[in-house]
Amino acid sequence: MNRSRHFAIYQSIPVLALVWLASAGSAYAQAVNPLQSDPRAALAGGTIFRAQCATCHGADAKGLETIDAPDLTLIWTRSGSTEESVFRTIREGIAGSIMPPHGFPDAEVWMLVSYLRSVAVEGTTDRIAGNTERGAGLFNDNCSRCHRVDGTGGSLGPDLSNITRRRPLDALFVSVRNPSASIARRYKPVAFLTAENERVQGTIKSEDAFSLQVMDSNQILRGFTKTELTDLTRDGQSLMPAFEVNMLSESELNDILTYLQSNHDR
Ligand code: HEC
Ligand code: HEC
Repeated sequence: MNRSRHFAIYQSIPVLALVWLASAGSAYAQAVNPLQSDPRAALAGGTIFRAQCATCHGADAKGLETIDAPDLTLIWTRSGSTEESVFRTIREGIAGSIMPPHGFPDAEVWMLVSYLRSVAVEGTTDRIAGNTERGAGLFNDNCSRCHRVDGTGGSLGPDLSNITRRRPLDALFVSVRNPSASIARRYKPVAFLTAENERVQGTIKSEDAFSLQVMDSNQILRGFTKTELTDLTRDGQSLMPAFEVNMLSESELNDILTYLQSNHDR
């Protein structure tokens, strides 16, 4: 990595010069982030992240469609993931992958750790107390045609394996009762007419200036040239139906979520 470029970025954040001077050279791979209680550390880490990591992990740390690097907002939801282990991954890189080692001063690596903490996704921490068996049956009847769990099911919607680790309980309820309230990345709805006058509805998988890749409602991945499409709308409703209480009672939904939570204990 280019050392002088790195320095220039660093010096463009005057607030941080202080933090750095205070801890440079001293904080040698401590188990606990020495900058934990400094709110500026996450901000500074964000600046370093966007300069050094975003090309692979995305500017918001959630990953990019085009590069096979993980969504870093989810790393804390895995058991065994500690600030020290994340520090070490950043410092040493991951052998056999394109994740490079980074020879930054310790203080900067800790700033990156602080930043990654600040964007961490919160999962469901409580045990959901419903009926797993009934939940599995209800899931098969209502959800699995669009969602995979443990490798089986449809793919119009996102894979729901481990979803309770990645989403808080209230967000899961909203996703089922009111799917259009917040639409998952890479599942933005789209509808249009093709040159052959076929009406297509689906989710946008990727897009550039000229073309559009869409998972259509029959779960077939298709590519289109934009100039051939007419009547294109993107801000429509989610392709997931809203499951109101008369379709799926509160206790039935609870059973489904219990099943989804149980599925990552296996
Ligand atoms: C050239 C692309 C690239 C760059 C630049 C890069 N990474 Fe990575 N990173 C990856 C890839 C690919 C992986 C997954 C490697 C694997 O597990 O096989 C990864 C994995 C990681 C992990 C472990 C994730 C997990 O699931 O445990 C962390 C943490 C991480 N990167 C942080 C960073 C930070 C912070 C930076 C910037 C200082 C950075 N990376 C720069 C490509 C990159
Ligand atoms: C017709 C297909 C379809 C059916 C049936 C369906 N879903 Fe979905 N689901 C989707 C799509 C598409 C998305 C992504 C767009 C969005 O977020 O609304 C989604 C999103 C979700 C999400 C949010 C995922 C995330 O990453 O936040 C959850 C949770 C979910 N569905 C649960 C369920 C459950 C539980 C059922 C059954 C009761 C169900 N879905 C039935 C298509 C479907």
